[in-house]
Amino acid sequence: MLKKTYRFTNASTDYYFAGSISNLKNIADQKNTVIITDEHVFTAHQKKFKNWNTIVLKPGEEFKVQATVDSVIVQLIEMGADRTTMLVGVGGGVITDLTGYIASIYLRGIHFGFVPTTLLALVDASIGGKNGIDVGVYKNMVGCIRQPKFILQDASFLVTLPDPEWKNGFAEIIKHAAIKDAALFRQLEENSLNVYQKRKQLVGQLIQRNAILKTKVVQADEFEQGDRKLLNFGHTLGHALENQYSLLHGEAVAIGMAFAAKLSEQFSSFKQADRVINLVEKYGLPVSASYDKDKVFTVLQSDKKREANVMNFVLLKSVGKASVQKIPLEQIYNYI
Ligand SMILES: NC(=O)c1ccc[n+]([C@@H]2O[C@H](COP(=O)([O-])OP(=O)(O)OC[C@H]3O[C@@H](n4cnc5c(N)ncnc54)[C@H](O)[C@@H]3O)[C@@H](O)[C@H]2O)c1
Repeated sequence: MLKKTYRFTNASTDYYFAGSISNLKNIADQKNTVIITDEHVFTAHQKKFKNWNTIVLKPGEEFKVQATVDSVIVQLIEMGADRTTMLVGVGGGVITDLTGYIASIYLRGIHFGFVPTTLLALVDASIGGKNGIDVGVYKNMVGCIRQPKFILQDASFLVTLPDPEWKNGFAEIIKHAAIKDAALFRQLEENSLNVYQKRKQLVGQLIQRNAILKTKVVQADEFEQGDRKLLNFGHTLGHALENQYSLLHGEAVAIGMAFAAKLSEQFSSFKQADRVINLVEKYGLPVSASYDKDKVFTVLQSDKKREANVMNFVLLKSVGKASVQKIPLEQIYNYI
């Protein structure tokens, strides 16, 4: 296990790479910690939760909502959780987003940490301090930015991760490569999902590289005034599709990336949309969907990146380089 501490504006986070949840007792006080997880993770890894106070939630994006927050808060009150209690989210991005948010508002804020258990959460969702919930079809409409005390990575959870969830994680990995890391993009082109699934060491390196890539972007721009916006590549159309059509987050982002790559050819100097689309498809992800344009456009307009009649859209300049460009909503509508 490798420990590294990363400093953010108001806090620092300890990252434990290639670790094990058995180390959790050395990081968090077992008596004063409450683990939040979901039924899938709990059932598949029951032994790992032995002797820990645990709240088990129903799995899935539909539960990343205020009603779940309320029910966890009631349980925390009943358990006698106080300002010294630590919450630890053990799960995918839904659990880490929920745990970070609940810990940020319970008693006006208590400490929290994460043990991410999906590829997507290991490389993306557990990192950067964005915590929050959905409101109906509107993704991540309520939330805050607050960093976890620690992120403990334990890749042994991935043994039980279903195939679609592996693909889901690769959507965010492809996103990182497309906006920031041309060498990683080439590595992904040369390998395949199957190769990564079989080679533990390779997947370990991939997780660490992506976690550090995202961390550096966040460190440079924690409150999303500049470069952090690039991490939204593929997310504008993606978020508008995700909850309306019950897509996995990665599937929605994959369709959004294909759209943004095409849009980049139209509005930026980008010439390699096909290369992005081919890579997305290589990892078993969708690049198109049939949907109701007007319904999707209505949700798209509520995106946090909209300013009056223009959308701050993340476009590619080349593979590994991206920028934010203002595109009139009308032109996006015409292009969808
Ligand atoms: N905060 C951020 O910066 C950020 C970044 C990216 C995504 N997200 C959010 O993350 C969420 C998507 O995350 P996700 O794809 O991890 O979703 P998820 O948490 O719903 O997990 C996906 C599924 O895998 C199951 N699962 C988790 N770990 C498992 C394991 N080890 N073995 C077997 N099953 C397991 C879960 O129960 C669930 O059914 C979305 O809500 C998205 O908005 C947040």
